[in-house]
Amino acid sequence: SLPKIFVTRQLPERGLNPLLSHAEIEIWPERQPPAYEILLEKVQQIDGLLCLLTDRIDEQLINTGKSLKVISQMAVGYDNIDIKAATNRKIPVGNTPGVLTDATADLTWALLMCAARRIIESEQYVRAGSWQTWEPTLLLGTDLSGATLGIVGLGRIGEAVARRASGFNLRVIYSSRHRRSKEIEAALGVEYVEFNRLLQESDIITLHTALSKETHHLISYAQFALMKRSAILINTARGAIVDPQALYQTLKSGQIAGAALDVTEPEPIPLDSPLLSLKNLIITPHIGSASYQTRLKMATMAANNLLAGLLNQPLPYCVNPEIYS
Ligand code: GLV
Ligand code: GLV
Repeated sequence: SLPKIFVTRQLPERGLNPLLSHAEIEIWPERQPPAYEILLEKVQQIDGLLCLLTDRIDEQLINTGKSLKVISQMAVGYDNIDIKAATNRKIPVGNTPGVLTDATADLTWALLMCAARRIIESEQYVRAGSWQTWEPTLLLGTDLSGATLGIVGLGRIGEAVARRASGFNLRVIYSSRHRRSKEIEAALGVEYVEFNRLLQESDIITLHTALSKETHHLISYAQFALMKRSAILINTARGAIVDPQALYQTLKSGQIAGAALDVTEPEPIPLDSPLLSLKNLIITPHIGSASYQTRLKMATMAANNLLAGLLNQPLPYCVNPEIYS
């Protein structure tokens, strides 16, 4: 009989095509993700799991899946999965790097421009009927030309953000755990600086690191204190990289100019969060990779990873390839 797989949400149509003749597929039909208890029950009956950021794939869940052969996540990040527990059981974990790089870099720039030129406030101003006349000091933002863009984490997405900067006459600096080669720096037109210096010198700071113990609340009170009063913070990476209380205090007191977030801690942001009362903050609901083309590519890639795992082949995109050696 065919191997059984569980897909934790409905995916873009055609995304599961690679799996159709190879597996018995169960798809969670609800809009909300399956509760952890449901996942625990499902995982006992399946060979493959296709999951999302919204699923907690912890050690207990992984060890409960006695017949589980592969975990395939439709996302580039995998901070919701206990990779060590999967590796201990020699279960490969797949992800979807690369295909969402451009979409996420595009959204980063969209938020950056919205924050710099106060687009959301301006739009609300028009709809509220406040537009009376052209005014010399109405809704003034900040120029990108001549400004310094600081990229925290120069991986695939950070690089794609840097590449998009070239037409704006920006100085681009970056900090990173691993400094990139001189050739890559020259090709991207970026300059390496220490993290604290990046915080001090940037007019716009954009975060592109993975979430880990080291990057949890990487931006908190001490880091905000180093930033310029005119600084704008962009986060399209993971919410928990920024301490939300520190962000609130900082924006509320005008210690930096503004922020734009596509990710929050927690997600979704509670409606009573004080952050939602701030005018100098833009929030979108984790839509970095949300384009038709990109989501189909992600789903197809996740399906191909899953299929490889079911067929005992190495996953095309595996986050724990050490299980093969
Ligand atoms: C989205 O946030 C992803 O990690 O793919
Ligand atoms: C994600 O794809 C990254 O490496 O930035």
